[in-house]
Amino acid sequence: MTRRTVLRGAAAMASLASMKARHGRIAMAHDTSGGPSKERCGIRLPRPSLKGSITLEEAIARRRSVRDFTDRPLSLEEVGQLLWAAEGITGHASYLRAHPSAGGLHPLEVYLLDPDGIFHYEPGGHLLRPVRGDDQRGDLAKAAHRQWFIADAACVIAIAAVFGRTTRKYGDRGRMRYVPMDAAHAAQNVLLQAVALGLGAVPVGAFDDEAVRLVLGIPAAEVPLYLIPIGRPRGQS
Ligand SMILES: Cc1cc2nc3c(=O)[nH]c(=O)nc-3n(C[C@H](O)[C@H](O)[C@H](O)COP(=O)(O)O)c2cc1C
Repeated sequence: MTRRTVLRGAAAMASLASMKARHGRIAMAHDTSGGPSKERCGIRLPRPSLKGSITLEEAIARRRSVRDFTDRPLSLEEVGQLLWAAEGITGHASYLRAHPSAGGLHPLEVYLLDPDGIFHYEPGGHLLRPVRGDDQRGDLAKAAHRQWFIADAACVIAIAAVFGRTTRKYGDRGRMRYVPMDAAHAAQNVLLQAVALGLGAVPVGAFDDEAVRLVLGIPAAEVPLYLIPIGRPRGQS
């Protein structure tokens, strides 16, 4: 393990502690399937709600791209709900999720960026694993051709894809169509869920792939496809 990895690990743990302090109800989830628990610990998200305060039709009608946010943070319930809408498991098997996926192959990996750092969403446990413990929203905005509203969002959901999971079966059609279609389904869920929670969001596709990949610290096999900054719209109570 390099010094950089150790430092990153320490920062991530400090960030976990800060989130724990901010949200008293966070349970530390320990994976007993292997590995030291410190490495494997994460933030268990609250159970998603299956009832909203507006109808689906109202959410569709009200959805508008929002790029101006207040600095009020989101609650862990809101964050959990948004991540569940993106990639949450909704059926009796792990391939049955909130969005449809070609062949049920689920090539997407979902990340959360907020002032506490970067976290990877694990649909299986509905939990967040820390990736790094410092605020990367400014660097992400820079990597997205200086779209600075990204840095002002309470959080950003980043959707990346491991194309090989789909292209192994579907070849070029998987690369050109199915994987981007999967990502668009997941993104639309997040956008509508944001509206239903009274939040604002915008899908961002204009960015430098490699720069975003470096900010997220994701493996070479993962390609960032979509960034969704989310926050409380300015001008609304
Ligand atoms: C694939 C895609 C990529 C987009 N990329 C960006 C972007 O990089 N920056 C941005 O501000 N908006 C982006 N948008 C949002 C569009 O500008 C927006 O959806 C459009 O202006 C229509 O407005 P509405 O979303 O309020 O209906 C993107 C939308 C899509 C579907």
